[in-house]
Amino acid sequence: MKKKYSIKEILNKNIYFLNKEIFVEGWIKSFHHSIFIILNDGSTVKNLQVVLPKNFDKNIVKKITVGSSVKITGIVKKSIGSKQFVELKLSNIFFYTSVPSDILQKSILQPKKHSLEKIRENAHLRFQTKIFSCVMRIRNYISFSVHKFFQKKNFFYLHTPIITTSDCEGSGKMFRITTLNIIKENDYKTLSNDFFKKKTYLSVSGQLEAESAIIGLGKVYTFGPVFRAENSNTTRHLSEFWMIEPEIAFSSLKESIDLAEKLLKFIINYVLKYCIEDLLFLDENTKKCNKGKKKFIVERLKHIYKTPFHKISYTESINILKKEIEKKNIKFSYPIFWGVDLQSEHEQYITNIYFNNTPVIIFDYPSSIKAFYMRVNDYNEKTVSSMDILFPEIGEIVGGSQREERYEFLLKKIKKLNIDENTLWWYLDTRRFGSVPHSGFGLGFDRLVQFITGMNNIRDVIPFPRTPGNAEF
Ligand code: 4AD
Ligand code: MG
Repeated sequence: MKKKYSIKEILNKNIYFLNKEIFVEGWIKSFHHSIFIILNDGSTVKNLQVVLPKNFDKNIVKKITVGSSVKITGIVKKSIGSKQFVELKLSNIFFYTSVPSDILQKSILQPKKHSLEKIRENAHLRFQTKIFSCVMRIRNYISFSVHKFFQKKNFFYLHTPIITTSDCEGSGKMFRITTLNIIKENDYKTLSNDFFKKKTYLSVSGQLEAESAIIGLGKVYTFGPVFRAENSNTTRHLSEFWMIEPEIAFSSLKESIDLAEKLLKFIINYVLKYCIEDLLFLDENTKKCNKGKKKFIVERLKHIYKTPFHKISYTESINILKKEIEKKNIKFSYPIFWGVDLQSEHEQYITNIYFNNTPVIIFDYPSSIKAFYMRVNDYNEKTVSSMDILFPEIGEIVGGSQREERYEFLLKKIKKLNIDENTLWWYLDTRRFGSVPHSGFGLGFDRLVQFITGMNNIRDVIPFPRTPGNAEF
């Protein structure tokens, strides 16, 4: 019996396969001189060259079109051409489907460069393009490395709910969930007829649930989809995105900062090891992202892996920006003063220019611009024990903090911010039964994939992007 192999297996162990008869299944990428089929099966960015026998049946040759799905049996031979070490000498071809030439003319499958925007409109064909399949393979390896990292460190993977009643970040940008056709806000009858008999939303974060789980489990991490109804049409915002949120009992902010830096470096090292072919392909073929520099993506990852992240307080970051404005006459659209929420232009300046494309961790932000759960600092109650990690080009990739573990402080803050206590009684209870100092952070998974792959738009790193006005497919 002939065995099926993936193209990745054949190309990686080419000597082992020499002169063996095998079969492969995949899609035809191109067909040259009526004898060379270029085949890909998704296992690798590299293609397998298949050579037709001389005087092959003309009726079959007609069916060999781009995009057609086939099973090809043949013998692996040393290639005469210099482009590849081995090729497959075809003995049999079976067509699952043959794409008719007239349909092909109208499809994005025809071998012609398309813009990423155009490809994005064709979700079903996106996965067949080289750039997008590279990004998806890398995304897979990054996910796997996240689990590997936390499992090795004895964190437990916690599934937190997607349907929730609480607004973790307090921004009020949540998608409401209801089974009713018409909602009358704050109407008691409306709520009692609704599915959950209370106001429910798609969760913006699994953090609050993770905080309740660590009292008992010690160390957990979440890795799931979260939802934000912000009307942000930027290259870094999605309405549905994936977040990784570790939470550590008996820890201060410092443990979370160290853990986040270790996690990011572990992931980067992992992709450099397991995704190098895909990364190099993106380096060669996404000139717009890499500004024409050779091996830009790979070199940038190596640089970040070996360079310690800069660590500065929020107050220092404001002082740096003020000095730069004075000394170098830098112009920003938004003014700089202590207490302001740093804008993207400020973050970009600090990471890209001031710290020369190295990640920066900014800690101890003003309490007034951060979420209710962050711990007020003992040394200055105007600030909270918080941190953001900023990456070159991308900006904020991680947001985290030490949590307010003292019941009275937390209650006072919830009242001060007019947060509905009824939605958080269970959270407050964690501070009454076995509360401990603890901290954690949220890593924006899609922004990380965007940084690693060097893609300009976050919509090109997620299989089915959801953004304001767009929930196609
Ligand atoms: O800073 P954020 O809002 O933090 C939280 O949600 C905390 N509950 C995390 C925690 O402490 N457990 O979001 C965390 C990260 C951001 O740093 C950013 O990388 C990403 O999530 N993010 C987005 N990514 C894509 N699209 C959006 N609309 C995003 N909003 C935040
Ligand atoms: Mg944030």
